[in-house]
Amino acid sequence: MLQINIEGAKEFYTAEEHQGANDRASGAFRQVQDGYGKGNEWLGWRRILQSPNDAELERVERRAAQIRNDADIFIICGIGGSYQGARAVIDALSKPFRKSGPEIIYAGHHLSAQYLEELIHYLNQPKADGEIKSVYLNVISKSGSTLETAIAFRQIRKWMHSKYGDDATQRIIATTGETGGVLNKIIDEEGYDKFVIPEDVGGRFSVLTPVGLLPIAVAGIDIQTLYYGAVAEYEALEKDPSKLLEYAATRYLLHEKGYAIDVLSSFEPELNQLCGWTQQLLGESEGKGGKGLFPANASYTTDLHSIGQLIQQGQRNIIETVLTVKKPMSKLTLTEMDSDVDQLGYLSDKPIYEINNSALEGTCQAHIDGGVPVIRVELTSLNEQQLGRFIYFYELFTGVYVYMLGLNPFDQPGVENYKKAMYALLGKQ
Ligand code: PA5
Repeated sequence: MLQINIEGAKEFYTAEEHQGANDRASGAFRQVQDGYGKGNEWLGWRRILQSPNDAELERVERRAAQIRNDADIFIICGIGGSYQGARAVIDALSKPFRKSGPEIIYAGHHLSAQYLEELIHYLNQPKADGEIKSVYLNVISKSGSTLETAIAFRQIRKWMHSKYGDDATQRIIATTGETGGVLNKIIDEEGYDKFVIPEDVGGRFSVLTPVGLLPIAVAGIDIQTLYYGAVAEYEALEKDPSKLLEYAATRYLLHEKGYAIDVLSSFEPELNQLCGWTQQLLGESEGKGGKGLFPANASYTTDLHSIGQLIQQGQRNIIETVLTVKKPMSKLTLTEMDSDVDQLGYLSDKPIYEINNSALEGTCQAHIDGGVPVIRVELTSLNEQQLGRFIYFYELFTGVYVYMLGLNPFDQPGVENYKKAMYALLGKQ
């Protein structure tokens, strides 16, 4: 079960203020539940958990098993909500330095020419035994027309068709909307295997559809447990949303009081991308109409040696959300040494996670003392079930919180502005 601890924020508002915000959060939750809020045609991220599609989960698992069996490299080609969720789960659950299954490479998430050139160069390098690498490509785009993704897709699929001939067709999997969009035209022409993003699920809410599930399963992660973890959280929060409402009320109050930045941080590098997914989910949803907390990310203790100073003593407009994992991820202890020349003898034999925990507790205390309200979000352990719970929790949290601001959580009209300016410069008709 996800634990939310708002103790570190309480001194920054009164109990009466919090009660008022809590009432507002209850109203916003009813808007989500009863489906009468702004953008209510985009509530499919709840619907898919109300009636899970087991047949589709199994189809995803079968395709992923085939890819895992045959691929040396699996390329995930997408941007924003079309890749961040998968990357978050894959990074959280893959052991660093241990290779199992195909190498996972991301593409289509920026417009770097050098990256694409180097990627094709890398794909072209034969394996140690001289054989050509076995590459599979999953292009993911709900609209089917996002420029970053479309450009990378064109470059990579051209390479694949030239290398594998007719066999390229079964190596390319497209995940897109049911109908419409350029990608659907390409699928029809080429006969690529297709997975569908339901119409009522927006990009950043789509990790529990084939958008996230296929890449996650290719990485060898148990998607049934992930998915049903989310279902369990859905069911629990329908019955008792109080912890979520308390958290939403706290963040709302702090926003109302003029705080401008929410630093989403963690003390485990495996969670960096999960903070990134949360950043995108919140940022694209709440940053509208001159409102919203800027969701920044920090990876501690690394960033205590960079932006830690600013968080501690810079402009007092920062709150912090610290993501923790209760169950130690490693029991490694600090090795003993005969000599104490490095002056670490006082820590000898101590589990390193305890040292990390002291850094965590010390940092939270120092930041609160320095005027930074701290909210803590704790996963019991880092596994599929807990991550499923985390994903749904934050999807619902985002819906509720953004309704509290009086905004539509499910659109992103501002993103179109850069596209318009870019297309005008590129001369697109
Ligand atoms: O949340 C969103 O809707 C966006 O972040 C999209 O996922 C992102 O822009 C990619 O869009 P598409 O899947 O249409 O290529």
